[in-house]
Amino acid sequence: MNHCNFFQSSVGKKVVMSITGVFLMIFLLLHLSVNLFLFSGEKAFNDAVFFMRENIFIRIMEYVLAIGFFIHILFGIKLHLENKKVKGEIDYAINSYSITSFSSRSMVYTGILILSFLVLHLINFMIPMKYSDHRHLISDYNIVVSLFKNPFYTLIYVFSFFILGIHLNHGFQSSFQSLGLSNKKRLAWIQKFSFLYLWFICSGFSIIAIWFFFNE
Ligand code: HEM
Repeated sequence: MNHCNFFQSSVGKKVVMSITGVFLMIFLLLHLSVNLFLFSGEKAFNDAVFFMRENIFIRIMEYVLAIGFFIHILFGIKLHLENKKVKGEIDYAINSYSITSFSSRSMVYTGILILSFLVLHLINFMIPMKYSDHRHLISDYNIVVSLFKNPFYTLIYVFSFFILGIHLNHGFQSSFQSLGLSNKKRLAWIQKFSFLYLWFICSGFSIIAIWFFFNE
């Protein structure tokens, strides 16, 4: 199989989805770790954001992250359209609907919701923090805290973290499978680890939004 055939094959696309997916999951861990500085007060959070912004390695990784997101979305949509075509043919013979989980069937839809959240999120934070003319007048900490004073945003954010959880529930496990790292013996561990990861991520982000809605 040459390179072209590999990326066009279903297995090849799944490998690309897994590698970019694992990369995005590591990003989420790092992102949440920085966000948790919000609980240490204004100076600690502003310093953490400043450190990330000035660090040359992180600045390079921002471009890698954007490319990672782009490839993950592109291959995800391609895979969905292909599966739909194949499934249409299989469904004709047997009802395959019941053997797949809700998480796995809804990947493309939860993915689209996460992408919509991401657009809103970048408008909320990245633009005022990095590109606004008034960015020196209000600190990064205050931009975050004032957003969560708004019940509408708090609700949208917490809802998006719930959707992210559904996406990660399937994504975490299936990335091990697609990379050939899963077997019967390891499956129970992968499931435990997946459960731990997605609870940490979803409740971590949600607690921030809810805490600052009720406090400050
Ligand atoms: C309570 C939840 C969250 C808070 C308070 C938060 C806060 C922030 C802040 C303050 C920035 C701007 C950093 C900067 O420009 O220096 C940022 C950037 C970003 N966030 Fe979040 N975030 C949250 C959840 C998420 C989630 C769940 C995702 C992914 C699905 C995400 C993806 C991103 C991305 C891709 C960036 C741009 C990274 C960059 O600076 O290049 N965030 N976030």
